Parts: sequence; structure tokens; C-alpha cells
Amino acid sequence: KKVVLAYSGGLDTSIILKWLQTEYGCEVVTFTADLGQGEELEPARAKAEMMGVKEIHIEDLREEFVRDFVFPMFRANALYEGLYLLGTSIARPLISKRLVEIAADCGADAVAHGATGKGNDQVRFELAAYALNPDIKVIAPWRLWDLSSRTKLIDFAEKNQIPIAKNKRGEAPFSVDANLLHTSSEGRVLEDPAIEAPEYVLQRVVPVEQAPNEPEMVEISFEKGDAVAIDGQAMSPATILTKLNELGGKHGIGVLDLVENRFVGMKSRGIYETPGGTILLEAHRGIEQITLDSGAGHLKDSIMPRYAELIYNGFWFSPEREMMQALIDKSQEHVTGTVRLKLYKGSARTVARWSEHSLYSEAHVTFEDDAGAYNQEDAKGFIQLNALRLKLLAARNRRLRG
Ligand code: ARG
Ligand code: SIN
Repeated sequence: KKVVLAYSGGLDTSIILKWLQTEYGCEVVTFTADLGQGEELEPARAKAEMMGVKEIHIEDLREEFVRDFVFPMFRANALYEGLYLLGTSIARPLISKRLVEIAADCGADAVAHGATGKGNDQVRFELAAYALNPDIKVIAPWRLWDLSSRTKLIDFAEKNQIPIAKNKRGEAPFSVDANLLHTSSEGRVLEDPAIEAPEYVLQRVVPVEQAPNEPEMVEISFEKGDAVAIDGQAMSPATILTKLNELGGKHGIGVLDLVENRFVGMKSRGIYETPGGTILLEAHRGIEQITLDSGAGHLKDSIMPRYAELIYNGFWFSPEREMMQALIDKSQEHVTGTVRLKLYKGSARTVARWSEHSLYSEAHVTFEDDAGAYNQEDAKGFIQLNALRLKLLAARNRRLRG
């Protein structure tokens, strides 16, 4: 029996690794991905080696993550429940995809993950895995073992010589998931939504009070809906997001305190830091303002909440997500041009936008003499016909009131 484990190198997945080897009795292959979480990956290799793992996969997936997952999602301006930029949700399908591929390569019949039985992540990992390989087995130790408390976990770790970071011995202050798009913090000191989160929760965005007193301008260029350059310099997708994260983090941009509805039914409170993503969303809306037709724009906006919900719920690899993606991608054909934004004390505001593909016509909209571009008399019939049903309704109401 062989299983491929999504291994971060942290305490929980190290315990899972050991548990799979000893209690579950199978050979463990580890997979550790660099998704831009900003952690060294070599310690994960060292730990896996120490625990006798013979096959260790460590991969830099940052470009694939941003190019094939984050950017397609940003074409939709996706927000879950109006606010959440889906930083964790969008990373899970990629991790599952690689787990399943590695399992096929090394002849494993199962994959394993460290998500609990209470959350969204288990659903996302597993729906993606089953969508890509209907025969794959998924092992979720959190739903199987009896290490139900922190104390039992630590005891297990000590019994098995798994190194425990000092601060993990006591209560870790909260649970963190990070990648190039965001850092999320949940649990422990954050569990009571009536209590304000302590400032030390923030890991990549400075508290807005400490942001610079001077604004900073940035120009983002788009091609077919994807960011391709910053300040005129072409960059790869992951480089662009990295750069926007630096700018946003410095200016206190992209902090969200949210109580959301998990797919499994409960509400949970999280603190999200999405500095670059917040700038990117604003910029993308900015370029769409001049390049998207209203019919196209309103249609894609109307499906956005469903698209976001699909991603949140773990249905990235589903026909309905792909159908919506096709619609969204089609809308982006002319979303090409540049947006200038002002970054200042927690906000990223569009202040200018221009494009060869612009639909904006100053000749039509001007308050000055439009030289016959638009005939204001046309508006009279337009309004009369649109008003017809409203008039008939009003007349009936008057009649019935007597
Ligand atoms: N609540 C967010 C989501 O469902 C973040 C989950 C964080 N996951 C984690 N393993 N800490 O997308
Ligand atoms: C977990 O339960 O493992 C993290 C939270 C979530 O998946 O929603």
C-alpha cells in the first residue's frame, strides 16, 4: 500500500505522516508545493527524510498557480459572499491535481491530506481528486484517528520523536494557510466574532495606521483580462502577483475580517490578507469599465456569485465551472489596456484608465457641444416606450383605488 501525502512540513502533517506509516501501515510518498506561502521547503525534505520517506516530491508551482488558477478566477472578479477573494479555495484543486498525478506516476492507489472533518478544505481536496481519478482512494486522518485534542497530538508527536516548535507546545494562537494570493487566519483567539482580532494576526499587510503617509501610484496593464505588466514592464503572472503583494502589504491594503458560511453548514470567522489580489481586482474592474460592453459586463457579473460559490465549494473541476469559465473568458477578448491606481492607507483606487480597445466615446458623452454625434430628441421616444407599461400599471392602480 502506497499513499501520496500533501505534506507542508508543519507539525500536523508531520504527525499525519508518522500516523500513516505506523498506525495505517502504508508507505508514504510526500508532496510539498511552493505556492508562494513564503516558507523554506528544504526543512520539509529534511523532516520527511528523517521519517524514512524514500520518495519526496518538492515542486515550485507558483507560475502554474497564478496563470491557470488565480488569473482565470480574477477574470470573473470572483468574490464569495461579496467579500472573500477565495485565496485558499483556489489553491486546493491544484494541490489535488498534483497529488493525483504523482500517485499515478509512482503507483500509489491513495492520496492523503491534513484537512479536518469540519472544514471546506477536505471537500475541495477530495472533489478535485475524484473528478480527476474516479478510482483514487482518499485518506483523511483527521476523520479517522482518535487524536482529538491538541494534548493527544503533542503526546503522539513526542512518542514518535517528531520535533515540535516551541510555540506549538502551548496553544498555537490561530491556524494559518498561506500562498501567493493570500494568508488566512482562523480559530483560537479568532473564534469569537464579537471580539476584535489582535493586530499581531497580520502577517503580510502592515496595520493601516502604520502605512506610509505618502500615496504611491502604480500602473497595471492587461491583455485579454490578465495582468501582463506593471509600470510598463512585462512580467510573468507569479512575478506580477508577488510585486502587487509587496505594494499592497506596504500600504495596508487587502485586510478582511469575515464571518462566512462554510459549505459543511457552519459559520466561521477568518482574517484574510490579500494585498496584491485586492489591487488586482480593483484594476481589473477599472479596465473592464472602458473595454466591456454593458450587456456582456452585466451578464458576467450576474453569474459571478455562482462562479465564486462553485470555487468555494470545491467544484473547480466540474462542467458547470468550465461552462461559466468559457463565458467569462469570451467576455475578456477586448479587456486589454492600462489602469493607473493610487495606493494609500489601505485603499487601492483607480484614478485613470486607457485602452486601444476602449468603448468609451467622449464625443457621445460630452457635456459640451457634441457636433451631432448624439441626437437628444431620440431619447424622447426611448423613454416613452419604456414608460408605457409603467403608465398602464399606474393607471390601473389609480382606477382600483377609485
Ligand atoms: N475559510 C477559508 C476557506 O474556506 C480559509 C480556509 C483556511 N484553511 C486552512 N487550512 N487554514 O477558503
Ligand atoms: C480545516 O478544517 O482543515 C481548515 C478549515 C477549512 O477547511 O475550512
